[in-house]
Amino acid sequence: MKIIVLGTGYVGLVHAAVCSEYGHEVYAYDIDREKIRDFSTGQADQIEKYVNEPGLANIIRDTLGKSLRFSDDLKAIIEGTDAIFMCLPTPPNIDGSTNLTFYDAAAQDVAEVLGQRTDKRRVVLVNKSTVPIGTARHMETIMKTHGVENFGVASNPEFLAEGTAVVDARRPDRVVVGCDTAEDFNILRRVYSQFVHHVRIKYIETTPETAEAIKYVANTMLLTYISFWNGVGAKIGENIPNVNIDDLRLGVTSDDRISTWGSFVSNGAGGSCFGKDIASLIYQLRRVNVSTKMLEASFEVNEFQKVYLIDRAITEVGFKFNNKTVAVLGLAFKKHTNDMRDASSIKVIESLLGKGVAAIHAYDPLANETAREVFDPSKNILFEKIHYHDSAREAIAGSHALFISSDCEEFRGFSRTIEDTVTPPYLVMDGRRMIPDYAELVAKRFSYLAVGSMAMTSAQ
Ligand code: UDX
Repeated sequence: MKIIVLGTGYVGLVHAAVCSEYGHEVYAYDIDREKIRDFSTGQADQIEKYVNEPGLANIIRDTLGKSLRFSDDLKAIIEGTDAIFMCLPTPPNIDGSTNLTFYDAAAQDVAEVLGQRTDKRRVVLVNKSTVPIGTARHMETIMKTHGVENFGVASNPEFLAEGTAVVDARRPDRVVVGCDTAEDFNILRRVYSQFVHHVRIKYIETTPETAEAIKYVANTMLLTYISFWNGVGAKIGENIPNVNIDDLRLGVTSDDRISTWGSFVSNGAGGSCFGKDIASLIYQLRRVNVSTKMLEASFEVNEFQKVYLIDRAITEVGFKFNNKTVAVLGLAFKKHTNDMRDASSIKVIESLLGKGVAAIHAYDPLANETAREVFDPSKNILFEKIHYHDSAREAIAGSHALFISSDCEEFRGFSRTIEDTVTPPYLVMDGRRMIPDYAELVAKRFSYLAVGSMAMTSAQ
């Protein structure tokens, strides 16, 4: 099949690479010429400065010039295309709705080029980015307005998670394809021939609107499940003596019907999808007068969760942040990524700065550079108080308290590093329950405050 992947961001680049592995003739297109030039080198460092996913650069290196090509000229690659995958940024508007500016602009470009093609072969326009329910239909209108002939529209949402994107794309749980006609379903079946009759992967064919809804419901369900544990499980552990949250989780998730994923209490879930998608679904449902109370609660619990350890430090430990130096470890929204979109660390750092800390010692194994951009001192002078460090130990040195804000493996069982680097009185705020041997710290007069547990100080 000849495939164009339009947009070489996270979703598009991974999709293009994995499709090229399966022997399709893939063209990855982007309007950003510099990106196209960098990707066309096939060099890992040039690829990873945009998308850093294990295994991705290797696939691109192996397929480049054979089944994979990069292009910034849509007209030159359009003839004979079977499917065009739309993988565009869909940022949120202030009211939670989805901003389709990039999407619409790209659809117009596609429509113009398709309107002028000489071959009249059937082509399917496939939405892969998460777009509001009804966007495939909207794209159909754009194509018709431009007089495009013999086309179909489809929704084929992407479910991959960051850090495991290549593995997820090669072996998804399910492939969801929403089309209007048998002809279009057949084209997508040929694109995904390796998955159609797979014993483990579910290949689901439905309407475009249902496919679009599946993505929103899946993501809001996942966030709601996390919020359930943060809003109920964690609160029981934090407020009722002798309840152990880890045992509680184990006991509950031993039921096959209840997932372990999502049951790890945290200072909130971040990332490019969850917050944005739930806000968009709330917006979409309000427009059709459906109650969104449950989704709102899930969203609010998640937002509240991001910073409330800081409030607990004040109320439960009596810690005074004013003029203190606080180390913040884990800046990305989760381990194995440099992505800080909607990361809890942003709220944590903003809250600490608002409480008058003297300095923040920040560290993340991958995201220090991203953080420098997020906390640009030219936008807010308070960001000058943030100093970046090359190791957790270096960040902790000279601080009065630390906040663990992501689940990086290197923070697990971290008590020895803390003990060796600073002396009590010292407060550890653990947003990810990374220090199971906290009792040793407490015995040595450190204060330990974790999501899901009551505060522990040496006085107790
Ligand atoms: C998510 C979905 O998993 C994926 O299917 C969808 O396509 C895009 O959004 P991703 O954003 O990469 O993927 O991150 P994910 O691994 O799901 O984690 C999201 C957040 O939840 C992270 O901040 C993570 O640390 C947090 N989390 C996860 C918890 O707080 N507790 C958990 O038990 C699991």
